[in-house]
Parts: sequence; C-alpha cells; structure tokens
Amino acid sequence: MKRLTVPRIRARKTDGVTEDPLVMLTAYTARQAQLLDAHCDLLLVGDSLGQVIYGLPSTIPVTMEMMANHGAAVVRGSYHSVVVIDMPFGSYEASREQAFDSAARLLKETGAAAVKLEGGAAMAPTVEFLNTRGIPVMGHVGLTPQAVNVLGGYAARGRSDAEADKIVSDAKALDEAGAFAIVVEGVVEPIAIAVTEAVSCPTIGIGASAKCDGQVLVTDDMLGMFERVPRFVKRYENIAEIIEKTVATYASEVRARSFPGEEQTYQPKG
Ligand code: KIV
Ligand code: NA
Repeated sequence: MKRLTVPRIRARKTDGVTEDPLVMLTAYTARQAQLLDAHCDLLLVGDSLGQVIYGLPSTIPVTMEMMANHGAAVVRGSYHSVVVIDMPFGSYEASREQAFDSAARLLKETGAAAVKLEGGAAMAPTVEFLNTRGIPVMGHVGLTPQAVNVLGGYAARGRSDAEADKIVSDAKALDEAGAFAIVVEGVVEPIAIAVTEAVSCPTIGIGASAKCDGQVLVTDDMLGMFERVPRFVKRYENIAEIIEKTVATYASEVRARSFPGEEQTYQPKG
C-alpha cells in the first residue's frame, strides 16, 4: 500500500461532496501507528499528547521536541496514512516566518507530510505563507484547546450568533488561504454543518457532526484509557479495565511465586 498524499485527501471533497468520509485518529508512538495505520486516512500527532502521554494539565506546555520525537515515531510506524503534526503553542503565532521555521523543522525531523495549527482568520496569512512554500496546513477552528486561557475552558462553541458567524468566517478564511482540511472541534451541530457547506476543503469533526467530511478522535479516549472523557467521545472499548485486570493477575502470581513458571524459566542442559 502506497502512502496517501495531501492532494488525495483534499480531493476527497469534490464540488462540496465527500462520498467516502475521512478517517483520522491521533497517534503518538510507533506501535500505536502500526496498529491504526491500515484503518485510517490520516494519523494526527496531536499536541493532546501533553495530557495523554505526559500528564500535563493542558496543551500549553507542549514543546517542539515532544512533537518532533513523537512525530518521527509515528512516521516510522506507518506506511499508508498521511501523518499530520500539531504545531505546539508558541511555535507559530508570532509571525509567518516563525511558523515556517517551526513547521519546516517538524517536517525535516520527522518525515511527516503536513502540520496542523489552531486559529481562524488571524492565521490565514500564515497558512498561505506555509502552503506556498511547500508545507501543507490543516486548520483547526471552534474549540481550540491552545486558547484555553482566552476561552476560559473547554465548553462547546458556537452557541451565540456572533460566535457561530465567527467560526464560519474563520473556516472560510483558512479555506481561501489554502488549508487542505479543517478540524472543527466542539461546536453545536448546525455550525459544523454550516462550516462544512461553506468551505471547499474537507472538514474533520470532533464533537461536531456526522455530516462533516471526516471524523477524528483521540485514540486513547475512544479506547477507554481514561476515566473522564468529554461527552463527544464514544468509548469503543475499555482498555484500562483490561490492563488493570491483567496487571493484577501478574502481581498476584509474582507474590505467590507462580510466575515465572517452568515455561518461562531456563534450565541447564541435561
Ligand atoms: O491534539 C489533538 O489530539 C487534536 C485533535 C483532538 C483534533 O488536535
Ligand atoms: Na491539538
């Protein structure tokens, strides 16, 4: 299987229609990427790794080093999906040049095909600057977690008319600037639909609508690795429970000296 390309992802939405919805999941490690790759169109090395992998309170403290290291692992573990890396907070907002330097570093150090950054119309010139210089950009509107200190939390967006209009015009600005896809996160469904109809590139929903052109979830959330997840997460499995049960069995076998057994123990020949 040859690796998908950004233009092929972009072309899945033709004349406003996406017949085959885009499947995206987050991946942070090589093994995780190996397991997800064949089932996905896109793997996102999300800055959600701050909370998921590093136990940080938000995505704000995530560094370029973290993104580059995990991005490289995910590229090594995949051969089919387009790998997109989140630009961490503080690595792209100051100027188009800063954004290009950071994005170029991420692509050079990892082999990923594209970056994702948060923000609307204010980021459109940056999206165009990168895209015209060889770096495809995925946008991200609605609930943008890096803006938690401005938004005051992680509540769904688009409940007032002003907020709804802003989300749609932000998405349009990113689309016109050449974003190849846009994540629409944590918005009321009519806004997710309005954005999807307003832009020519595919929308990828999370806490948005089944009518988006694709969907994304944080893999660890949908696998049930966490106690508390947002309402929009469907928990397809309870992996945490499986891990806990398995570890409890191991611990009791160690304490009973029944592990290692004969099969796991080397003996001298003869
Ligand atoms: O960091 C992340 O995992 C994301 C997705 C939730 C879209 O940005
Ligand atoms: Na993110």
